[in-house]
Amino acid sequence: MKCRINKKNCKVFLDFGKMPIANGFLKKREFKNEYFFPMKVGFNKSLSLFQLYKNPNPKKMFNKNYPFYTSSSKSMILHFKKYAQWIKKKLNKKSSILEIGSNDGTFLLNFKKYYHLGFEPSKSVHNVAIKNNVKSKNKFFNLKNIDFLIKKKIKFDVIVGSNVICHIPNQNDLIKSMNKLLKKRGEIIFEEPYLGSMYDKVSYDQIYDEHIFMFSATSINKIYKLHGLKLIDVLPQKTHGGSMRYVITKNTNAKITKRLKKIFIKEKKKNVDTLKGCYIFKKNVENSKKKLLKKLNEMKKKNLKICGYGATSKSTTILNYCKIGPDMIDLIFDTTKDKINKFSPGMHIPIRNYKYFAESNYKNIFLFAWNHKKEILKKEKYRKNCQWFSHLN
Ligand code: TYD
Repeated sequence: MKCRINKKNCKVFLDFGKMPIANGFLKKREFKNEYFFPMKVGFNKSLSLFQLYKNPNPKKMFNKNYPFYTSSSKSMILHFKKYAQWIKKKLNKKSSILEIGSNDGTFLLNFKKYYHLGFEPSKSVHNVAIKNNVKSKNKFFNLKNIDFLIKKKIKFDVIVGSNVICHIPNQNDLIKSMNKLLKKRGEIIFEEPYLGSMYDKVSYDQIYDEHIFMFSATSINKIYKLHGLKLIDVLPQKTHGGSMRYVITKNTNAKITKRLKKIFIKEKKKNVDTLKGCYIFKKNVENSKKKLLKKLNEMKKKNLKICGYGATSKSTTILNYCKIGPDMIDLIFDTTKDKINKFSPGMHIPIRNYKYFAESNYKNIFLFAWNHKKEILKKEKYRKNCQWFSHLN
């Protein structure tokens, strides 16, 4: 299986230009050595797989300074709690669970009573998991690093991952590793940003260095089939602006759900499974850029002061693709200590501690964390006469 782009099967159809590491928030003295890579997007026709043409080495992203903490959003904590309850219905007291990319342990905290293990390569977030008494290995999940489990003949009833499967360049190695550690009747369950939702919303900011793949039910079905595994169910999720939960089993005779059948049909209808959908998306992305720049230029002509809210990884794509810098957006408020008092990757907009947001008088607020809109607008409802906007509206 070729999951990385190859000339025969894949077509590059969209070029975002040079991009920095999306979570590479940096200090002024680091500007001159900042790393950039050409961010192009392609589509593998045989696997219906939407993917980056080139991706930086994961060690550049998931290292001791990785600043994304799952627990930074209350609604995500709640989401993982509900997700855990749904999984627990499949388990008994003796069941075991493995999480790939377990971050700060937010999800596994719900499984303390079970035999559990997380793999988390980023030291910063792994340390938080350990502090919370969640069992976590500070390692990438791959064939080499699971050897100790294979030797001990440890297998799992459920293998989960959230917003991480799309981060892993070598999907063959990943799937082989999961397959080796999965019990005969076990299930692989993961949630990832969904290609169909990205097309609907034109949320092209989902594309950045970490998101090497943007999956659909069609692509997951084709990829796992090559490994003798079967996609049997999908559950659409509201998280990350539209995600999909996939359920995969070793039992190739298992029936697929009605829900999955419907999604396959929908994906065909919306061209999610073919290159045609990519070209429609490309046009929409280019129009979205024009519309956003027009809006920001008009605001600037009126001398309006603009701030950003949420220094998300996603914002790196918007800011660098549209070339929006501190001349347009004064600063971005954020709650993450590892980002505060640094600058945004590439365009170098200052990141300010969120605690100063309340006393600031910004009325025009670019909501980069648009996927948390409900949670944020509820929190900020005291703030009157503000224009909250994003590239999506
Ligand atoms: P998210 O959309 O989850 O991140 P990403 O695009 O990086 O996957 O947003 C996380 C960022 O948003 C993180 O830097 C914290 C910030 N944030 C706030 O500053 N305030 C908030 O209320 C929320 C929900 C997030």
